[in-house]
Amino acid sequence: MSFIAEQLSRVKPSATIAVSNKARELKAAGRDVIGLGAGEPDFDTPDNIKQAGIDAITRGETKYTAVDGIPELKKAIAAKFKRENGLDYDPAQCFVAPGGKPIIYNAMMATLNPGDEVIIPAPYWVSYPDIVLLAGGTPVAVEATMETDFKLQPEQLEAAITDKTKWFMFNSPSNPTGAAYSREELKALTDVLVKHPHVWVLTDDMYEHLVYDDFEFVTPVQVEPSLKDRTLTMNGVSKAYAMTGWRIGYCAGPLELIGAMRKIQSQSTSNPTSISQWASVEALNGPQDFIPERAAVFKERRDMVVALLNECEGLSCPMPEGAFYVFPSCAGTIGKTAPSGNVIKNDEDFVTELLEGEGVAVVQGSAFGLNPYFRISYATSTEALTEACGRIKRFCAALK
Ligand SMILES: Cc1ncc(COP(=O)(O)O)c(C=O)c1O
Repeated sequence: MSFIAEQLSRVKPSATIAVSNKARELKAAGRDVIGLGAGEPDFDTPDNIKQAGIDAITRGETKYTAVDGIPELKKAIAAKFKRENGLDYDPAQCFVAPGGKPIIYNAMMATLNPGDEVIIPAPYWVSYPDIVLLAGGTPVAVEATMETDFKLQPEQLEAAITDKTKWFMFNSPSNPTGAAYSREELKALTDVLVKHPHVWVLTDDMYEHLVYDDFEFVTPVQVEPSLKDRTLTMNGVSKAYAMTGWRIGYCAGPLELIGAMRKIQSQSTSNPTSISQWASVEALNGPQDFIPERAAVFKERRDMVVALLNECEGLSCPMPEGAFYVFPSCAGTIGKTAPSGNVIKNDEDFVTELLEGEGVAVVQGSAFGLNPYFRISYATSTEALTEACGRIKRFCAALK
């Protein structure tokens, strides 16, 4: 018997991290590589937030804190939910973890029994199915293709729900597609959920602030308040405040669930870093005006990348509503031969040939549960994006 736990054989390492590693290797070998794989803003953490972290160190806020977050941060989270989403949560219903990812992990560990199903619209953020598997549950992926703008349709949700469904995992704007659900589109899904009271909702609102063209962000409890008693509303400072390395995620939900998550966190990571928590208090309570300024930059890049990709032979790229990703189809390149002589049979081949041939690192759609597509993160400079799209165009034109 293997020394490594059997459970782990069901879990894949993150494909997005694998692409970044491959790009790094090629760079180290002297190749000119443009990495469009990373899912983090290229902006820096704003100075007032950094200063709040420095001040916390100077004040000696360097000790253990309450397992689920300092009271000041829980208060700031409750105020955020009220101010930005119109949701009433008591600070006691708020919970802080070392990143958005551990929020999902804690929630799944706290609730899943063997055989419990979690409905995950595909394409999905790479970690969802693997977190469910690690927690002993069964991920049920339901494909939402380009034909429906990568949005799950209510009849698909209805058909996927069984007696064993425990959670519906919802993510808008989406990583990897950038698709965001309008109020009407979300209401069509919550109408289905209302009919199935045994199904809980985990809504991952990490990209809430990155929506463009006057798109109105909405979260499930806002659209259907009766779901509040069975929804975990999750968010974090990583993307909106360019704080990926600080590792702070947060959520609010029913007390029983929050208590169970606290128990898991108390026996795993313990409290999130004290310094990062104080910086996050400043992030949530401080000036918010840089957020739309940065979103305007992302919007310009999105418009440019979509236009350039649609000039490429064999690619088709819809215009997403939010996040900093686009998810073009490469269906028109399948079956063609790359300059290396290799035939492109699927999106993984497309991505490999593109990296080897032109030094552009993107992530295959199959890593997110939908083939043949690929994900580009446009959280990088306009110059790098223009150069990368030029190379992709040249690569596509050279396919025979
Ligand atoms: C949809 C989504 N949820 C959660 C996370 C995790 O965020 P964090 O870095 O705070 O763990 C990410 C990060 O890429 C994400 O894209």
